[in-house]
Amino acid sequence: MAHQILLHSEVEPYRTIRPLLEGMGEVRQWNPLTPPPPAEILQSIEGIYNFGHHHIGGEKMDLMPKLRVISNFGVGVDHIDLEAARQRSIPVGNTPKLLDGATADMTFALLLAAARNLVVGDRFARSADFTHYDPSFMLGQEVHGAVLGIVGLGSIGYQVAKRALAFDMRVIYHNRQPSARAAELGARYLPLDDLLSQADFVALNMPLTSQTRGMIGRRELTLMKPTAVLVNAARGGVIDHQALYETLRDRRIWAAGLDVTEPEPLPRDHPLLGLDNAIIMPHLGSATHQTRQAMAQRSVDNLRAGLEGKPLPSRVA
Ligand code: DGY
Repeated sequence: MAHQILLHSEVEPYRTIRPLLEGMGEVRQWNPLTPPPPAEILQSIEGIYNFGHHHIGGEKMDLMPKLRVISNFGVGVDHIDLEAARQRSIPVGNTPKLLDGATADMTFALLLAAARNLVVGDRFARSADFTHYDPSFMLGQEVHGAVLGIVGLGSIGYQVAKRALAFDMRVIYHNRQPSARAAELGARYLPLDDLLSQADFVALNMPLTSQTRGMIGRRELTLMKPTAVLVNAARGGVIDHQALYETLRDRRIWAAGLDVTEPEPLPRDHPLLGLDNAIIMPHLGSATHQTRQAMAQRSVDNLRAGLEGKPLPSRVA
């Protein structure tokens, strides 16, 4: 019998996904910004395929009494109430490891771009103001040989560290607990405050949890060097954005490269958008053709396994 699948998404999913879902059963789409589908549809739903970061809590799960799997397109599951899923014995799947390399590449791209004025330089080079080469303008911060502080030395942080070593950087890190892989990277564990005050570059690569929410606030930003660059490829919620705005506006750190923000997108009149020492991306950390395809396949495999009552290839709760 065809399975009943709820595609929980505001947008059409990445191009290979819908045919795969339709090969498994009947697909109903719920744009979470609109009212829910009729009760008789929700009551038939056996699996949720979640594309995007809209919240799924216990009250939503309870609308679907036959629900037996939630598959999330992406590794971060801060928008899903995992405890509520556990209480209801609904397995939740995600896509770990597959996007480590792409997200680490983006972390490094932001680090380099912020340090070396890539965005403002590009704008300037296109403008009428660029009339002659001037060796004393747009000086940046040197990346090679600098100290990189990684907050969250998990599998993405590990890939960031490997890239840093190729740039002759010294790596320090902070984690909930020291990492077994640190020795092979020559990375030294430090308490967060020490990391912030010693690093030339700070890369945030931790998940958003109740422990990491707001971890980089006003006090933490004041510990950073005036020449330091902060890069966030994790989740916007780990930073206090008002404090970051004031810090960048007053040039108390050099620059920030943000792949993510909170809220996302920022309101169009948010003052961070007006700063030239902030580079802001529309959440592109894992946005490559190759990684999207791998994520699509794993998330569909998770859904299929859950619908068939089998263990999920990547189960997070
Ligand atoms: C992730 O995998 O968590 C990325 O942010 C894309 O959703």
